[in-house]
Amino acid sequence: MAMDYFREYILDHYRNPRNYGKLDQPDVHAEDSNPLCGDQLGMDLIVEGDHVKEVRFQGRGCAISQASASMLSEMIEGKTVEEVVALGKDDVLDVLGIPISPARTKCAFLSLRVLHRGLAMAGLEQPDNEEEEE
Ligand code: FES
Repeated sequence: MAMDYFREYILDHYRNPRNYGKLDQPDVHAEDSNPLCGDQLGMDLIVEGDHVKEVRFQGRGCAISQASASMLSEMIEGKTVEEVVALGKDDVLDVLGIPISPARTKCAFLSLRVLHRGLAMAGLEQPDNEEEEE
């Protein structure tokens, strides 16, 4: 029952992605693809003061990658930069709500990787060298 709920929730985010699009002159921008399948994802953030004021993502790919990007965008908006920097894999897994098989973790974490890469490129967090592994 709960599983069905979360599957529906993922499909809903996939079909009706929140915060889909691009921003003009974003303070944070990064994009990347999943090397295994070529699916792509980009993220734009506007930072005002110490808060993320707006977020958009663009991409194409499987339901897990696009839904987790949509969910992540909802988590980011309105948060402080510090809170966004602290977002990790557990937060994404929590919001997805269903077990993600090892083969799909790259899908689930694609947007998170793009986010942290963007934050690092914008000088808002330390580059995380671990992110490329896995
Ligand atoms: Fe490509 Fe999931 S199959 S990101």
